[in-house]
Amino acid sequence: MSLTRTTFFRQLFAFLLACGASLFIHSCSRNLTYVPEGTPSIIPAPENMEIHEGSFVVSGRTAIYYSPETDAMQANAGYLKNWISKATGLDLATEVYDGSKPHTGNILLRMNDTVSSAGSENYILEAGSKGILISGGGPAGVFYGIQTLRQLFPAEAENPHQAKHAKTRWHIPCLKISDSPRFAWRGMMLDVSRHFFDKEFVKECIDYLAMHKMNRFHWHLVDDQGWRPEIKQYPLLTEVGAWRVDREDLHWNSRPPQEDGEEATYGGYYTQEDIREIVAYARERHITVVPEIEMPAHVSSALAAYPWLSCTGKPITVPPGGVWPITDIYCAGKEETFIFLENVLNEIMDLFPGEFIHVGGDEATKTEWEKCPHCRQRMREEGLKNVEELQSYFIRRMEAFLHANGRRLIGWDEILEGGLAPRAAVMSWRGTSGGIEAAKSGHEVVMSPTSHCYFDYYQGPAHLEPPAIGGWLPLSKVYAFEPVPPELSPGESSHILGAQANLWTEYIPIPAHAQYMIFPRIAAMAEVCWSRSDRKDWHDFSDRLKYHMKRWDEAGINYATSAFHPVMEVSVPESGKRELQVSMEAEMPGTLIRFTTDGSDPGSASEVYKNPLGVASFITLKALGFMGSQPMGMVNSLELTFNLATARKVKLASPPSGAYTGKHSHTLTDGIRGSIRPNDGHWLGFHGIDLSGIIDLEDLTPLTTVRVGLLHKPDWWIFLPKSIRIEVSSDGIDYESYGEADIDPETFESNEETMDFTFSGGQVRARYVKITVENTGLCPPGHPGEGQKAWLFIDEIGIE
Ligand code: ACM
Ligand code: ZN
Repeated sequence: MSLTRTTFFRQLFAFLLACGASLFIHSCSRNLTYVPEGTPSIIPAPENMEIHEGSFVVSGRTAIYYSPETDAMQANAGYLKNWISKATGLDLATEVYDGSKPHTGNILLRMNDTVSSAGSENYILEAGSKGILISGGGPAGVFYGIQTLRQLFPAEAENPHQAKHAKTRWHIPCLKISDSPRFAWRGMMLDVSRHFFDKEFVKECIDYLAMHKMNRFHWHLVDDQGWRPEIKQYPLLTEVGAWRVDREDLHWNSRPPQEDGEEATYGGYYTQEDIREIVAYARERHITVVPEIEMPAHVSSALAAYPWLSCTGKPITVPPGGVWPITDIYCAGKEETFIFLENVLNEIMDLFPGEFIHVGGDEATKTEWEKCPHCRQRMREEGLKNVEELQSYFIRRMEAFLHANGRRLIGWDEILEGGLAPRAAVMSWRGTSGGIEAAKSGHEVVMSPTSHCYFDYYQGPAHLEPPAIGGWLPLSKVYAFEPVPPELSPGESSHILGAQANLWTEYIPIPAHAQYMIFPRIAAMAEVCWSRSDRKDWHDFSDRLKYHMKRWDEAGINYATSAFHPVMEVSVPESGKRELQVSMEAEMPGTLIRFTTDGSDPGSASEVYKNPLGVASFITLKALGFMGSQPMGMVNSLELTFNLATARKVKLASPPSGAYTGKHSHTLTDGIRGSIRPNDGHWLGFHGIDLSGIIDLEDLTPLTTVRVGLLHKPDWWIFLPKSIRIEVSSDGIDYESYGEADIDPETFESNEETMDFTFSGGQVRARYVKITVENTGLCPPGHPGEGQKAWLFIDEIGIE
């Protein structure tokens, strides 16, 4: 099943509108002329590589021989044959290899005893002028050797549309690579609940994993906003739970629930036949699919289908957007809940042969459990002290059930709360501390902390990116991830199975957007998971990555070029001239930044950025990253104002609060306006307190206006102030009023806005300007934070 075409186009349209049309779906015709020719650029970096003279030529006469120990070897040969056919147009013969004839002129795939004693995923690839030999410790190792061979073909081979000529000679450089993975679990998760992705895209994701020698596809099949796997015994799970009202044109967190009589039209599900097809597709690529069947929370979709599963039994509808906190959860007291889940898991185990079944376990708000007579009775009978222990009981029961069926349970790190079930493995997402605790107590762990693994986070300057959930995860930060925390002893470290990237899709409605969030970060994650830490080198990786971008261009993959975007930072020199200093840097090593100051877009003849620019007037800076002569990504622009207050210190009576202290001591006068994002580093936040600040203009100065920029964002508990008062003084002792304003909170009830309050009190001569902004105090009645301290956000101050 899939979403309707009209829904799709509406969604795409709304989405493109939201991010500025062609913002990031780039043309595939980009020609990366800078790519070094002839140097193998393997990602993830192999353990050992020796490059030799010469090349092997793949032609129509080349055959693929394979040793026939297992069906998987025949499948490997078939996979390589199909890939070469698509890549080159050559139709190579495949033949069983019995060891009696030489494989001269051909490609031989075989299992090798020496390699296998080290591990079934290890391989050796030897390319000589007379043939190619891939020996694997097991069929998986052979498959990874094939992926390495694939990367030795020129980039054009990845283009499925380019006409291939049968006479083309495809040169493979002579070399020897011996290689093995660092971690056993090299994963990526795709959330198909928040947005539904069809079977074809799921297979594409599996191909992305295969390209990168990753081996776990974690399929997040159940969440509040949609139940996706067909369960024969409970047909309403997909008849009802897979569909929601279409609110795709609204922000994820502002979607009203389904109304009476409204039809639920957005969604989709996978039939059991679809699932078997996907699991088989993954198996052929040596990837285990780990299904995630969430419990006890993130299950509104199941409760919409079968309300008797909740504590109250009250009917609900599938929510079309964000739900927080998650209080509609399975009842842990009723026996029916467990019978239902065991029946569901029986069908799931039948579909997914892998060792691990993921049961979620995250983010349950257990207020209903505290009230529910069934849950309370369960707690009494089982001697459970609190609802955390009740969740632990829930997960332990599921663990015992899976164990009795020869499977293992894995869950998010919340399953540690109230006591971890025996044998359970933990996926550590709220940092690494849950993973550390689990490993120290002998449990297996997959590291997937938000800080380094959440691909739904921004990867570049946010105003140049499609809307994301928040957070900040640039490519280099993924690359820097070390899955084994230093807190663990070597023995404890052996419990770290590996690492995993997670793609949650609240803000990701379509495949092109998903690709954009996955690429290029998946390449960095692959190297984290596969390559030994002493083989990792950010600069070397970024060189190899540029070559892979060329391959992705050919393959039509919509990867992000965010790492080439110039990031502009403004500072004020502590002493010396009163000016702003603008520095620019792109994350990707080797990016040449060209810029303009006249408002035009930079081109290949624009000035090259070398040193920080001193700015002492109003300008618009525009900057673009280049690789050689090739522009990469998008123009970043920055409007800098320059007035009497710019670059001057503001003496504050009380410092700003929490994390909202700006980027430097001149945040209020650095020439840059704070954006609608409170955490953009340009705002000062005051929690429950007023702002009072004095600017010293150093001389008696004629002035005619004073401007104060403020933010109103009730969702973040940020409100306009009660009042603003401006005073001026010539000696810093006696102040007289220059202007004041009382602000009626009713006027600005819900809209989020940045606002300037300008005071024009006529011309005066003054040296000191005092600004007092009175916090509104408490969040108003009816607001979720009612009665709690409100925030006051200010940026920027201007004086003319
Ligand atoms: C999670 O991100 N809630 C596991
Ligand atoms: Zn209950």
